[in-house]
Amino acid sequence: MMANSASASAPGKIILCGEHAVVYGRPAIAVPVSQVSADVTITATGCDLAIEARDQNRTVHFANLPADDPLAAIIRLTLEKLDVADAPLATIVIQSTIPIAGGLGSGAAVSTALARTLARYYEHELDTATISSLVYEVEKLHHGTPSGIDNAVIAFDQPVYFVRGRPIETFAVPRPFRLVIADTGLPGPTKIAVSEVRAAWQADPAKFESLFDQCGEITGQARSIIEGGYPDQLGPLLTQNHRLLSELGVSCAELEALVEAALGAGASGAKLSGGGRGGNMIALVTDERTASVEQALLNAGAKRVIITTVKATNDKRET
Ligand code: PMV
Repeated sequence: MMANSASASAPGKIILCGEHAVVYGRPAIAVPVSQVSADVTITATGCDLAIEARDQNRTVHFANLPADDPLAAIIRLTLEKLDVADAPLATIVIQSTIPIAGGLGSGAAVSTALARTLARYYEHELDTATISSLVYEVEKLHHGTPSGIDNAVIAFDQPVYFVRGRPIETFAVPRPFRLVIADTGLPGPTKIAVSEVRAAWQADPAKFESLFDQCGEITGQARSIIEGGYPDQLGPLLTQNHRLLSELGVSCAELEALVEAALGAGASGAKLSGGGRGGNMIALVTDERTASVEQALLNAGAKRVIITTVKATNDKRET
């Protein structure tokens, strides 16, 4: 069975706490960012599979893509999973409002939406854990040794508590909370940041293990606070996590300026988010402080600000 057309979307994501330490087995928490999304539609055409990436103004033919191209890879892996031998005679349109290379999970969101769209097109259910693992395979092409947190949070579209190699845990969020996300405008070279942390860890394992432990403890406490329904108390933990990330060597002058600006304007906590050395930072804000923190971040050089609310959910599970 096959539909004439199908579509699916996936949100962006941001890491709340625990980045880098997560590569070394400590927990991290990531949350979906629903203000931005990747949206994919497939429509039968009777012609060879074409892929139109609207926001990049690019149309490519599946048959001409190299095997390690991320779009080709997610299509191939999904078709294999669906037991479909030949590429569909169709056009896939991809539209994404997720900034590229800023730690907001644009690649994983496009892959997730694409895998879901293909499954719907073939009228076949693929469960979320399966989608997440297909996307993980593609993430490896982009990032070398990703921890797997991006594909998990985006495929589940819920906050996740993530420990490498363990089943993905979602957890209850009884009260929503608001984050302001600000972009330094510098590309966040995650791969480089991860490899530099590795070199520094190899040079001084005792120091780095202790920093990772402290990041891991913060993540555990952050989860308890969120689950307990007191997300307004997260602020100091986020700022502490930022200081630890600076000690790991992944901050930069632009990120420091944004963190200080947010705290100065009344955010209860602020930190870099993701690989660091650029990319995004996040600030925890109340409704009343949102506008002043947003303005302070723009004044301090943020190139773009996204305001997101982490929605309340009761869903707690392990997959
Ligand atoms: O830059 P992002 O948001 O994709 O985050 C990278 C997070 C790291 O912990 C630094 C790496 C990883 O694979 O988890």
